[in-house]
Amino acid sequence: MERLQKIIANSGYCSRRKAEELIKAGKVKVDGKVITELGTKVSDKSVIEINNERITREEKEYYLLNKPRGVVTTTSDDKHRKTVVDLIETDKRIYPVGRLDYDTTGVIILTNDGEFAHMIMHPKSEIDKVYIAKVEGIINGEAIRKLETGVELDQVVVKASRVKVRKMDHKTNHSLVEITIHEGKNHQVKRMFEKVGYRVDKLKREKIAFLTTKGLNSGEYRKLSGKEVSKLYVLANKKEREI
Ligand code: URA
Repeated sequence: MERLQKIIANSGYCSRRKAEELIKAGKVKVDGKVITELGTKVSDKSVIEINNERITREEKEYYLLNKPRGVVTTTSDDKHRKTVVDLIETDKRIYPVGRLDYDTTGVIILTNDGEFAHMIMHPKSEIDKVYIAKVEGIINGEAIRKLETGVELDQVVVKASRVKVRKMDHKTNHSLVEITIHEGKNHQVKRMFEKVGYRVDKLKREKIAFLTTKGLNSGEYRKLSGKEVSKLYVLANKKEREI
């Protein structure tokens, strides 16, 4: 017996929070009966329907992709552009965890585990997302200080948990800056630099926590090991698979 919202999230249908909303809104049926009580325990064999559609309890898969430029981070694209999901061979309904822009490269996780995806993306989990930004101009101390103390985006203050200058190239008038953040707002890194007066010319996500693109050429991927998945849960201060 497991909690209904957990089963829904584990099915990959949506996050646990979204599952709770659906349950409260009366959209979820268990064995033909609408259940609105959060935390209702449900057996393995029960049939769960959301909006009258049966959900499947798939085996979980976790992939790490080195995203190339020119690929969209969605499951489908109305302009028929290639998506990150197209790059991975699987029959499971996987989706990207968070978003990288069309022109951003680097580490991205794809999974069919809604709970895991939610955990990685939630700022409270404090999972490091490390980016390397090539910015136009020579970055100054004041800009770095502002990135670290916080800039306002969408009426909230977001700050980098770390900023490190890797290179300043006076010849080409560019700087290479490593920036670590915990949130995943739309175009967050580019907008943060814009707020402090710099334009990002190139962006790469170098790391999510301890995961890098090591051994993966652009467009290549690999499965995450069970150990790596567990380690991410531990990092996020969650009891492995139990929450
Ligand atoms: N921030 C951005 O601006 N773009 C990305 O793709 C990721 C983070």
